[in-house]
Amino acid sequence: MSPEPAPSIAQLLAFYLEAGVDCALMDEPVNRLADIDVAPALPAAEATSKRPVLASMKPTTPARPPAKVEVAPEVAIAAAREVAGAAPTLEALHATLKNFEGCALKSTATQLVFAAGNPQARIMFVGETPGRDEDIEGLPFVGAPGKLLDRMMAAIGLDRSTVYIANVIPWRPPGNRTPTPQETQICLPFIQRQIELVNPDILVTLGNPATQTLLRTKDGIMKSRGRWVDYDTGTRKIRAIASFHPEYLLRSPGYKRMAWVDLRLIAKALQALPACGA
Ligand code: URA
Repeated sequence: MSPEPAPSIAQLLAFYLEAGVDCALMDEPVNRLADIDVAPALPAAEATSKRPVLASMKPTTPARPPAKVEVAPEVAIAAAREVAGAAPTLEALHATLKNFEGCALKSTATQLVFAAGNPQARIMFVGETPGRDEDIEGLPFVGAPGKLLDRMMAAIGLDRSTVYIANVIPWRPPGNRTPTPQETQICLPFIQRQIELVNPDILVTLGNPATQTLLRTKDGIMKSRGRWVDYDTGTRKIRAIASFHPEYLLRSPGYKRMAWVDLRLIAKALQALPACGA
């Protein structure tokens, strides 16, 4: 049997992409199988002379980046609560989040994805995590699901100048993996404070993870969507409603009819709001 031909670089890259490895973390590859403390085998002549191994013969594996000190999730959650709660404005919260070192997702993301839209908006949409496009641009919902969200909002007369948009998790998890429950809990105080500071009249959670996390329900989206519930911002109670995540609607367009029902409920609630300053 003839051996399989070695895969080409393009095939290898396609394999990695398929497996979710679509970003480089460092400029240089790190051989994690190399043990930098073990001297390499001596060249034959030197091995027989039994000379001590010289420092210059140490393997040239690039130095590993200094190991980050892992913070226990409870400690990181407590720190997140403290610093998020202390931020008096959205700008301060943005700066605090940028400097926060308690969530490992920060180290693999390209940048923080804080928010888009109008901080004075009366309606706020919250998704789950930034994807690849958002990670590159630093803005939420700019990829294909974001384009659909724009069309959904336009259908009820909204656009990014009249809404505020953020995510529960502000850093893209590597390869778009699902955030761990710990990562979600560490990021939760920040999005809660963000909602409190924007102080919208209506909160819309998009998809299961954002809904379950913010509206504290275990129900799946089929059950939780399209129902008004109270959301306590910490300062006051506002109306909140869950709907489908646009990414889900792209995969299952059959649910767009139900999403339209939710959008009409939202439009009606917006119309019923007292005029600003009234
Ligand atoms: N999905 C989300 O939940 N948020 C984004 O910003 C993009 C995709």
